[in-house]
Amino acid sequence: MSTVDVHLADTALLDELRKDVRDGLTADPKWLSPKYFYDALGSELFEQITVLPEYYPTRTERALLEEHALDVAEATESTMLIELGSGSSEKTKLLLSAGVKHGSLKTYVPQDVSISALEGAIEQIAQEFPALEVRGIVSDFTDTLHNLPGGDRRTIAFLGGTLGNLIPEEREEFLKAIADALDPGEYLLLGVGLVIDPKVLVPAYDDAAGVTAKFNRNVLSVINSRLGGNFDPDAFEHVALWNAEQEWIEMRLRATSPQEVYLADLDLHVHFEAGEDLRTEISAKFRPEGITAELAAAGFDVDHLWSDAESRFALILARKS
Ligand SMILES: C[S@@+](CC[C@H](N)C(=O)[O-])C[C@H]1O[C@@H](n2cnc3c(N)ncnc32)[C@H](O)[C@@H]1O
Repeated sequence: MSTVDVHLADTALLDELRKDVRDGLTADPKWLSPKYFYDALGSELFEQITVLPEYYPTRTERALLEEHALDVAEATESTMLIELGSGSSEKTKLLLSAGVKHGSLKTYVPQDVSISALEGAIEQIAQEFPALEVRGIVSDFTDTLHNLPGGDRRTIAFLGGTLGNLIPEEREEFLKAIADALDPGEYLLLGVGLVIDPKVLVPAYDDAAGVTAKFNRNVLSVINSRLGGNFDPDAFEHVALWNAEQEWIEMRLRATSPQEVYLADLDLHVHFEAGEDLRTEISAKFRPEGITAELAAAGFDVDHLWSDAESRFALILARKS
């Protein structure tokens, strides 16, 4: 059986978009929240990014899941897998197979802000795993986790390095909120990118085929269509750079000439100087000791930290203490 619960009223989402965009575009430097990338086209472009030769995170995390999915099922004996920001749920199938094989897993709860990604994923999962109950949730994970279903022996998965898209204060709050949503002895399975050579890191966010550039610029089209804006996406250049001090990748959109933008819905005029940047995403990378300490501060004990041979990505199984 599969169901989708929508906890994001269109009006609530629009109100939040209005507030975020006003805050971000009137700030200095200007910024936008990465959650607005994911309309139907944005979700599709993200899937294209995951198979690019430069984009090592997805294939590295997949290999870790192939190796350790059964270890996860055996360690957690979870009856319910809840996944935050589940997207296409493509890699998650490895966890679902292992949970079903182990005999414990009964329910999968994918959660995402993108209804198109969620619906596509649920249809596929329901076909491939007919014995599983699939309960999709459309909501914003930064807002509240109170919509997550209760159950015994739950694991919350948060994969794809999405934790790195939150700024450190949001991250701290978010990890605590996950811990609060769990009972002692339940688990968090976290996939995060590790700090590596920027020569490998930067091209993963600036691919030769230009798919990431398209994904990045798409956020301007999302704002145009939702807030009556007149951004010219082609007047902005995609920029990816490594911030060595913060240890995160920054994606930006750089105005190639002076721009006057008007957002009718907000009655807001925004001026960009030539060369001015708009930050659209951060993607923080972690060190094993750093993320272990952050998890401990939120109320988790790290039971396992699995990494690939080149230490590019980590899959962490943490138990709520
Ligand atoms: C980097 S992608 C990762 C997708 C998938 N977990 C993976 O590993 O390939 C981030 C996912 O989180 C979703 N997302 C981003 N911000 C969100 C938010 N605030 N609330 C819920 N979902 C969000 C996006 O729609 C997208 O599917």
